[in-house]
Amino acid sequence: MKEALEVLTQKKAQAKLGGGEKRIDAQHKKGKLTAYERIDILLDQGSFQPLGELMTHRSKNFGLDKQKFYGDGVVVGYGKIHGRLVYVFSQDFTVLGGSLAEAHSEKICRVMDLAMENGAPLIGLNDSGGARIQEGVVSLAAYADIFYRNTKASGVIPQISAIMGPCAGGAVYSPALTDFTLMVQQSAYMFVTGPNVVKTVTHEEVSSEDLGGADTHAVKSGVTHFALEDELTAIRHIKKLLSYIPQNCEDEPPKKPYDVNENEIREGLNFIVPQNPNQPYDIRKVIQGIIDTDSFLEVHQEYAENIVVGFSRIAGRSVGVIANQPAVLAGVLDINASKKAARFVRFCDAFNIPLLVLVDVPGFLPGTDQEWNGIITNGAKLLYAFSEATVPSITVITRKAYGGAYDVMNSKHIGADLNFAWPKAEIAVMGAKGASEIIFKKEIKAAKNPEKKHQEMEAEYSRLFANPYRAASRGYIDEVIEPSLTRKRIISGFEMLENKALSLPKKKHGNIPL
Ligand code: HXC
Repeated sequence: MKEALEVLTQKKAQAKLGGGEKRIDAQHKKGKLTAYERIDILLDQGSFQPLGELMTHRSKNFGLDKQKFYGDGVVVGYGKIHGRLVYVFSQDFTVLGGSLAEAHSEKICRVMDLAMENGAPLIGLNDSGGARIQEGVVSLAAYADIFYRNTKASGVIPQISAIMGPCAGGAVYSPALTDFTLMVQQSAYMFVTGPNVVKTVTHEEVSSEDLGGADTHAVKSGVTHFALEDELTAIRHIKKLLSYIPQNCEDEPPKKPYDVNENEIREGLNFIVPQNPNQPYDIRKVIQGIIDTDSFLEVHQEYAENIVVGFSRIAGRSVGVIANQPAVLAGVLDINASKKAARFVRFCDAFNIPLLVLVDVPGFLPGTDQEWNGIITNGAKLLYAFSEATVPSITVITRKAYGGAYDVMNSKHIGADLNFAWPKAEIAVMGAKGASEIIFKKEIKAAKNPEKKHQEMEAEYSRLFANPYRAASRGYIDEVIEPSLTRKRIISGFEMLENKALSLPKKKHGNIPL
């Protein structure tokens, strides 16, 4: 037995070494951790249980038979984060560049299947040179096996991808199919075709970082939800993100302890919206004023900044916040903002996370750029997402709610459960200036002083429509509330809606305007 145990210990030690000390040193020199080190930080101490640690590839092509490493370039298994079960795979760049082929994929698929069968999140730590070139088409099939499972798991279990090194070619599509992507600044990049191919085809000269680095995808493309400064921060971020999310689509989000005796009146909320309706303010101040202290985890923070989305806690419960941002582009809805918010709403709805929607929106962004790039289809995504959502949802109009954007931003008509407005809210078809110009065109033209007449008619339109009371008289707004009472009303609202049960009509699946 002693000898057998020695053999086992030696094999396990060898598996831990991946591609060997030299390659581990090279990995560290790049400021990167190894696959095992990442898992150690991610999971509760001692909770990791590896699977398939001694698996190897079966290929003999191009000298691969002489390059066998235990684990075949990926560490997989299960463990706990804050006491809750998760499944994880962590690619090992020290083994054939973390390249993905048959055995490597079989290991990932195994934990994906287990995660689905047992209803727990899947976390992928990606660091790979892509398809293992020596294994040819087998590597492509191996990727497709993962993509297929990512899709089947979508909406059933939360899936999180952290990119901690290269991620190129078709490999990018597994993260893209998951719910959240995190990228590490300076060391991670994602692109379908790299700088060399780009240069050949389009004659553009671009670095890997500019083409597909963390900041590029956080700001320009929105491919990543989070760009983090280093691996440690990224791994901590994964844990934080999970703290808002249930284990699966049939589970409830975790609750934090909450003191019912807390004073819920937030006086500060009375003073955030400026007197002048055209003056911007930061909607994050309103969010902070409503939610539990320091509980906001913003998603897609640097992308489409005219809308703010993120997780928060209200009286200890997870709540997804979607809020127009008047400080950027006056909070207008455009293509990117619509896509960003729609995706977030759908995640929350899939995983039983109630929605809080804060509205201050002057409408949709006009222009050829928006129209030609499909603001119609893209705006419809957000409309669809809110209309389809069955989780409890509360909308608060803090200031403007104009035109189609009023309907889209979780109005009562498309399924919001409770709709509140602050006293200075303006709910109308359009702003008073534009509206009076159209409906009083003749009167303005005929007046001795058209400008003065326009101002008078604008004031009249404002008096009649730029307020929340027309909507309240129709019941579109349940109540006009003093801002300081917003948190109190929302706590009570979500408590009242806790057992909401609503299902969609029977269908195979809807056809969201993609
Ligand atoms: C096999 C690979 C590999 C790959 C890297 N290696 N990529 N082995 N298949 N795809 C090996 C290298 O031979 C080397 O082995 C080790 O990994 C580290 O690679 P280096 O080049 O020394 O590292 P670095 O300088 O950091 O460069 C990393 C890299 C580069 C940028 C990822 O290796 C690279 O460009 N690799 C090829 C990327 C690629 O074209 N992949 C295919 C994409 S197409 P040793 O033994 O020296 O340690 C694709 C299609 C997927 O993925 C389709 C899915 C549908």
